[in-house]
Amino acid sequence: MRIIITGVAGFIGSNLAAKLLKDGHEVIGLDNFSYGLERNISSLITHPSFTFVNGDVLNPFNLKDIKGDVLLHLASQKIPRYSSAYRTLEENNLMLKVVVEKCLRDKIKLVFASTSDVYGKNTKLPFKEDSDLVLGNTKVKRWAYALSKIYGEQYVIANNEEFGLNYTIVRFFGSYGPNHNLTWWGGPQSGFITKAMNNEEIELHGDGLQTRTFTFIEDTVEALSHCVLNEKANGEIFNIASDPSEEITIKGLAEIIWELVNGKDAQPKLKCIPYSSFGNYEDVMRRVPNIDKLQQYFNYKPKYTLREGLKKTLVWQSELLNKSE
Ligand SMILES: NC(=O)c1ccc[n+]([C@@H]2O[C@H](COP(=O)([O-])OP(=O)(O)OC[C@H]3O[C@@H](n4cnc5c(N)ncnc54)[C@H](O)[C@@H]3O)[C@@H](O)[C@H]2O)c1
Repeated sequence: MRIIITGVAGFIGSNLAAKLLKDGHEVIGLDNFSYGLERNISSLITHPSFTFVNGDVLNPFNLKDIKGDVLLHLASQKIPRYSSAYRTLEENNLMLKVVVEKCLRDKIKLVFASTSDVYGKNTKLPFKEDSDLVLGNTKVKRWAYALSKIYGEQYVIANNEEFGLNYTIVRFFGSYGPNHNLTWWGGPQSGFITKAMNNEEIELHGDGLQTRTFTFIEDTVEALSHCVLNEKANGEIFNIASDPSEEITIKGLAEIIWELVNGKDAQPKLKCIPYSSFGNYEDVMRRVPNIDKLQQYFNYKPKYTLREGLKKTLVWQSELLNKSE
């Protein structure tokens, strides 16, 4: 198949592109390097079945003449923790309009990347694809991201009802691993690993007792490739996550990383940062996925425990940091 990927130089895009190429597919990737990195696609660029377009999704001409069988839309703004809620709302909506129009015109399937953040503050765990989406106060700007993705999901489904858009929606639960961004943009793992390697304090937001269920990137792309390639996924929403039993507090995550980097007997250096230091911020206190649907449709079973995934990530990150020294 020929797969068009927006955001191909980012974390998930670059890993998925590598897998698809390895499995014999063609990939045409677009990225404007706003958050993506050349090093993420440097090993793909010479592959005969890979084409890269350096450009912005917001400019419809960049996608117009690209032919594919399916378009995976990963390019996105994320939680505006240190960035702009306006940009998150505006760019996510405008980009989606461009890719929906392209998919309708070319009569191809759209795979839309959503997020576990859409479940928000729902306290009924684990989150199933048809669970309620419970957001907080409008004046808390972190919800702009979840809201933009919920709008995106509804917009995609409305385009299916009105114009027959073929679609699949995927909701990622905190993925990590090789090629993740080393800044806060990439999630907690990358920053915690760098701090532990430098023997510096790891900062935990709040008391660090909020929980997440993290997914190693190889499991993420395995599940995602089914959603992209398999017709059974058409018209469906899927959680893409690891085993729910992997739920862990952020403090627990920091402790495991410290131990893997500095040894069993090392005392982790942790520092709690009050939420008030981020302004008007609200966190999600527990996030646990239900992955039954993915298992039923595609016989998907995550292969990596958090520890195993972190060990592979550490090898990658230490090689990268050593190279740049
Ligand atoms: N990584 C996760 O754990 C996670 C969790 C939930 C949801 N998601 C969603 O999955 C998708 C991919 O996430 P990721 O972690 O790979 O993000 P990422 O930031 O690493 O990759 C996104 C890529 O899109 C590119 N991009 C952004 N705006 C663009 C534009 N206007 N034109 C062209 N390129 C543009 C960036 O340069 C970047 O390379 C996003 O939609 C994100 O919201 C990811």
